[in-house]
Amino acid sequence: MVAGASEGIGAAFATYLATEGLDMVLIARRLEPLQQMVDKLKSRYHVEVTCIPCDLANANATQQIEEALHGKEINLLVYNAALSYIGPFIENSVEYHEQMAQVNMLSPLNFLHTFGGKMLAKGRGAIVLMASLAGFQGSGFFTMYAATKAYNRVLAESLWYEWKNNGVDIIACCAGATATPNFKNTLPEKISIFAPRVQLPEEIPNECFKKLGKRPSYIIGSGNRVASFLMQKMMSRKMAITLMGDNTKKMYRL
Ligand SMILES: NC(=O)c1ccc[n+]([C@@H]2O[C@H](COP(=O)([O-])OP(=O)(O)OC[C@H]3O[C@@H](n4cnc5c(N)ncnc54)[C@H](OP(=O)(O)O)[C@@H]3O)[C@@H](O)[C@H]2O)c1
Repeated sequence: MVAGASEGIGAAFATYLATEGLDMVLIARRLEPLQQMVDKLKSRYHVEVTCIPCDLANANATQQIEEALHGKEINLLVYNAALSYIGPFIENSVEYHEQMAQVNMLSPLNFLHTFGGKMLAKGRGAIVLMASLAGFQGSGFFTMYAATKAYNRVLAESLWYEWKNNGVDIIACCAGATATPNFKNTLPEKISIFAPRVQLPEEIPNECFKKLGKRPSYIIGSGNRVASFLMQKMMSRKMAITLMGDNTKKMYRL
């Protein structure tokens, strides 16, 4: 099951899993792009694909999805959908911050408890939670988004330890800038020739699945790993936070 599967990284995960011959359940809000994705995967890869239109900002989304599954077993879960906001924290409404908390933290929490719980009972399953380099330190002007991504990383890493001997693998897939429609819509400016290369969504699933079951979390892309090493190990926390904030200001002309 891929949550947030009609475009960007989620669509890349769904396509990758279809090439592996897996039947799937795909979730997103808009029915039309979701249905197009379903039709494409069915016709190209001859897999069974069910779509569930659902807004993960709803507090009862997990319940809705469980009902729509009609008892179908989920053995692999990719929770990919996220809301983001770039700009001054205080200029965004608290209602939108709360929606971000629901999509990025509370729905993954509910998914893990419900579907992860079922995998644990069977002693078999795998889960990918999407995290981000923005969540590795304070990231001004990405404030709430970064905090939710830090939550996902710690949640996945902690459960990796709790569940590793019970047949359920879980990984926090930590991406850097990736050329998804959502990312391109933010119209970012290139900040420096030293900035890590913007990755393609298709690069992510393959690298992530190679590390699933081996690592609690993994940074996708060698450029991102180098940048993260420099920021986490070679700089003070204060310097890393300042660099991140300064770069975001430049990227988004804030
Ligand atoms: N792109 C990057 O540069 C980047 C970098 C680091 C980490 N990430 C992480 O990678 C993941 C994917 O990012 P992305 O850029 O591909 O875009 P995204 O906007 O997070 O995901 C796009 C997909 O999720 C669905 N979706 C969004 N909100 C939803 C909601 N409330 N309920 C149900 N489905 C929802 C969208 O379809 P609908 O609009 O139809 O709902 C679409 O299929 C996120 O977790 C993000 O934090 C991205």
